[in-house]
Amino acid sequence: MKQEPLVLGIETSCDETGVGIVRGHTLLADAVASSVEEHARFGGVVPEVASRAHLEAMVPTIERACDTAGIALRDVDAIAVTNGPGLAGALLVGVAAAKALALGLGKPIYGVNHLAAHIAVDQLEHGALPEPCLALLVSGGHSSLLKVTDVTAGVEPLGATIDDAAGEAFDKVARLLGLPFPGGPHIDRVAREGSSVYVDFPRGLTARRDLERHRFDFSFSGLKTAVARWVEARERAGEPVPVSDVAASFQEAVCDVLVRKALDAAASQGIEDLLIGGGVAANSRLRAMAEERASRLGIRVRVPRPGLCTDNGAMVAALGSEMVARGRTPSPLDLPADSSLPVTSVLA
Ligand code: KG4
Ligand code: ZN
Repeated sequence: MKQEPLVLGIETSCDETGVGIVRGHTLLADAVASSVEEHARFGGVVPEVASRAHLEAMVPTIERACDTAGIALRDVDAIAVTNGPGLAGALLVGVAAAKALALGLGKPIYGVNHLAAHIAVDQLEHGALPEPCLALLVSGGHSSLLKVTDVTAGVEPLGATIDDAAGEAFDKVARLLGLPFPGGPHIDRVAREGSSVYVDFPRGLTARRDLERHRFDFSFSGLKTAVARWVEARERAGEPVPVSDVAASFQEAVCDVLVRKALDAAASQGIEDLLIGGGVAANSRLRAMAEERASRLGIRVRVPRPGLCTDNGAMVAALGSEMVARGRTPSPLDLPADSSLPVTSVLA
């Protein structure tokens, strides 16, 4: 029997150098080198530092992925690479490496959208995506609700954040609470010891008047400001800030809005499958709340395991593998990196 094609995927859109290798829906290797510690003291990712780190990590990460998968580079049938959106310099390193591999090996290259890859990765864990499905994509740079009919052909945006992304809100609030960067996993951890009803923080764009124009859009900057004011008031009064309680209450507000709007969007489209992807999908409260509320509505929820939610190369390989399986035309070898690539553009 002929084996399914072997696809190597490269991800460098932010601070993770990811190289994944898949065959069909089977994950063979997922090597990630992160420069997150180099950015921590700046409280955010520094683009120049990230680009340099990608350059240094690229070859060793490719070698590590091949070793883990037990393959040689010449066995690879196709190369996939994130060509946007993301940090321009960081993307360029991945795209240049992918082009060099494709040219050297004489194999096709697929330049793919990072956001669509966050969706496609779930196939490695839970098999073929239901079509259509509703995707809630929540990361450090994006928060969107998307209707996905065919992840290789395009996705239809239903709504998105009008200001901060969900992950960005987690990171900023963590900073206010004196937690390290990136803040999402730390808020998730300390919130387990806190009360989610300690402070009733605002739920952005859920008031009746907002729903007319922004039914499926998100806004997290008001919530971030509300947390800042609350913390400042406590500090001014000379009282201690109950970090776990504030973290839990903030997390509850974010998850409540994300889940409420995602389920409303699914119901409005008559879709019975909700997929959650992106770094914030690693959040334990978001996962539990989505499961609980969706099951009441008869909606199925799919969320990849946390390690596949944050940026990695396997997700790019997964989308590349789907491009090959569906016979999509490979990208030209001069494909550009596009830092503001729209989510509707899935393949270069
Ligand atoms: O998808 P991702 O790795 O990179 C981007 O494409 O942005 O997402 C990173 C974001 C960060 O803001 C990080 O704080 C957040 O995902 N994140 C989390 C958790 N793990 C990562 N947010 C909440 N809870 C988590 N457990
Ligand atoms: Zn991402």
